Amino acid sequence: MPFASFDHDPRTRLVFGPGSLARLGVLARELGAQRVLVVTDAGIRKAGHVERATRLLASEGLDFRVFDGVEENPTTHHVEAGAALARGHKADFLVGLGGGSSMDCAKGINFVLTQGGELHEYRGVGKATLPMLPLIAVPTTAGTGSESQSFALISDPVTHLKMACGDRKAAARIAILDPELTLTQPTVVAGSTGIDAVSHAVETLVTRKRTPLSRMFSLEAWRLLEANLESVLKDPNDVDARSGMLLGASLAGAAIENSMLGATHSAANPVTARFGVVHGQAVGILLPHVVRFNAPECEPEYRALASTSELLARRLEALYAATGLPRTLRDFGVEASDLSKLARVAATQWTAQFNPRTVTESDFLEIYQCAL
Ligand SMILES: [Fe+2]
Repeated sequence: MPFASFDHDPRTRLVFGPGSLARLGVLARELGAQRVLVVTDAGIRKAGHVERATRLLASEGLDFRVFDGVEENPTTHHVEAGAALARGHKADFLVGLGGGSSMDCAKGINFVLTQGGELHEYRGVGKATLPMLPLIAVPTTAGTGSESQSFALISDPVTHLKMACGDRKAAARIAILDPELTLTQPTVVAGSTGIDAVSHAVETLVTRKRTPLSRMFSLEAWRLLEANLESVLKDPNDVDARSGMLLGASLAGAAIENSMLGATHSAANPVTARFGVVHGQAVGILLPHVVRFNAPECEPEYRALASTSELLARRLEALYAATGLPRTLRDFGVEASDLSKLARVAATQWTAQFNPRTVTESDFLEIYQCAL
């Protein structure tokens, strides 16, 4: 392919290494924090991470409040609840601590808190006109790579479909990547978030928006994730493997920021919205079929990951099988009669336009049939 033009703006400082959470308080103070809202969920609090994080903030004299009401696939209701707490606290700084849901919710809160109005007004790219609060993102899963992105993915509370609100000002100022925080993930979470990260590496490599730089992120993300996913599933306390996964997921997130995603994510979103299938599981089931669908137009690119696209698809199936998660849509109650409606919604998802091979409603139907 000819060298695509790009405008890469590295705006998130990465602080990586086992134990690096210890720097949270000092880094927040350096960025001018005084009144912090920590955005997280109840599971992260239970794991003890919230207490540690807030102790670090307090030791630097920072006044904090905790919003731990985030749930999986957060909606605008979660964003509004967090924003109300931030307003009451007069927050001047945000910390997103947890998985993609917590980090995305923190970004969503930042939009409505600083710009006013409702979140859907910021759907798309670059709709924020006023300054936004500085954010430190601290992932506790190796998955979405939200810490490397300027997008908040927040679901509509009625349709449960995700809307993407992106603005360069919404990107985290600092991401603290501490692999030790990922040790507390249950294996089922490590599996589903890990395969999601793998899908980000594979999808970003071939999108229509790919650039020489996004390719670099995709390839290194794949190298790290492919080598370490099975290891963390076998030995959850392997800090080196956890490090590889966390860094790989973050680099895959940086690839998304530059090149967007493809048909796997378009197909996965309606399955999650309608049947409640965890994002990583929907993606893990669909990805090999999308690789086979894309193969006629992407064989040379896929060969950077495996000898042939078919061997790549099989390797992806093996990686997903290693998670031990259900392997077909039918396992989640999806029936053949549901597929045409899912395909209709999938074709409207905005990531579909970035897929390297044009993908129509009937193509999605075929992909779903293969995954059933
Ligand atoms: Fe994803």
